[in-house]
Amino acid sequence: MQKIKIAALGIIFPLSAILSGCGGDTTSNSAAPTVTIAAVTPPPPPATPISGIVDFTTIDVNRLDNYANPVLPAYYDATVAALDNSPNNNPINDRVATLGRVLFYDKRLSVNDTTACASCHQQANGFDDPNRFSTGFSGTAFTSAHAMRLGNIRYYRPGTMFWDKRAASLELQVSQPIIHPIEMGFDATHGGINALLTKLAASTYYPDLFTLAFGNSAITEARIQQALAQFTRAMISAASRWDTAYAQVFNAAAPNRNLNVALAGFSASEELGHQLFMTGPGQGGAGCAACHQPPTFGLAANSLSNGLDANETRIFKSPSLKNVGLSRAFMHDGRFSTLEQVIEHYNSGIQNGPALDNRLKTPGGAPLRLNLTQNEKAALVAFLLTLNDNNLTTDAKFSNPFKK
Ligand code: HEC
Ligand code: HEC
Repeated sequence: MQKIKIAALGIIFPLSAILSGCGGDTTSNSAAPTVTIAAVTPPPPPATPISGIVDFTTIDVNRLDNYANPVLPAYYDATVAALDNSPNNNPINDRVATLGRVLFYDKRLSVNDTTACASCHQQANGFDDPNRFSTGFSGTAFTSAHAMRLGNIRYYRPGTMFWDKRAASLELQVSQPIIHPIEMGFDATHGGINALLTKLAASTYYPDLFTLAFGNSAITEARIQQALAQFTRAMISAASRWDTAYAQVFNAAAPNRNLNVALAGFSASEELGHQLFMTGPGQGGAGCAACHQPPTFGLAANSLSNGLDANETRIFKSPSLKNVGLSRAFMHDGRFSTLEQVIEHYNSGIQNGPALDNRLKTPGGAPLRLNLTQNEKAALVAFLLTLNDNNLTTDAKFSNPFKK
């Protein structure tokens, strides 16, 4: 017990220090909420009380889904593991990630039971929102940024989150939407995170789920953060058509990391787009892979901005491009509604400014102009679509577990 408390404090202090301007009482966790221990249904052997879980969800506590040990392709080796932002004190385990799944899909995490994480991060869209801006709990207020796909969020170094990287870790990020005045509404005027902790403790299934995950029914902000971070970190994308084809190249003479080898099953257009994506502008390519790095297609840690607006000083990240073809709005403000518009931006629209990355400038410092042909632009779009990963968008372990 003492040990858990110390770990929790370690997470909470930086949160209040860094993000105190974001609304909500983030210091709540230092005083553990009063929780009534759920009545244990008569015990033969398995000691975990599960009645509420069975009533509300499809989760089988005796056969939990596998989040901790995913089967990964051979090229998800040490080079990819080095990008993993899992902290030592929150490695994925199936019980905690299962709790995270329930939290992720639970509309009760919003003040008026209307909005879950999954309302804006929809599995069928690669955990993105098909709308440019997302509707918050009130139904009438909208987010000011586009939502983000969550696949391969685990492989982003440093583990800073949000488009502008303002959250220092995934653990610190995942409770921000809950206390956000537009998104889920547990801001200071609605009692802050404490009000949510009390609400969850009064449910019939959370005390059981927290017991399953952590050994006792205490519901704390730190535990919610751990569980949501584990569940989202488990969302690995490694089964797109690009993955299947690249696996053959890699395994043929493992480890063959040559990203330019022609890929089996790719059409002429997809292959042209593949070559353009992987090859630098100096060699006749479009230079995309220098920032959107295979095999995770997460953004290079040292990437600066991509010149959307002139004189931009802010530095943005991009979510992994896996499943980008399932998104319906692109960039931090969702300004583009097609991948064709995205490609035209890189072709002819890069704007200069203090934050523009050198990879998008000519050696003389001017914004890069790729001068792609129509055929080449279409090819880049065709290639991006090979990054769609149906496994992630249909895998039952990432789906809604609620019966009601
Ligand atoms: C009302 C819509 C909405 C809800 C609800 C919502 N999100 Fe988000 N999410 C967004 C938007 C918009 C962004 C980008 C915000 C920004 O960068 O300013 C985002 C960003 C994120 C990111 C950052 C991804 C990255 O690569 O940096 C994570 C992780 C995330 N959300 C997880 C969650 C979790 C977990 C929940 C539930 C507790 C949740 N979201 C609830 C809209 C939502
Ligand atoms: C200097 C690094 C860099 C290079 C090179 C680069 N990008 Fe990006 N890309 C970014 C950044 C940063 C963002 C996020 C920008 C924002 O939203 O403000 C982004 C966003 C995107 C998005 C939108 C992602 C989303 O979820 O909305 C797509 C698609 C994309 N890039 C494709 C490409 C393609 C194709 C190329 C090559 C023609 C390319 N990028 C070259 C840095 C780069």
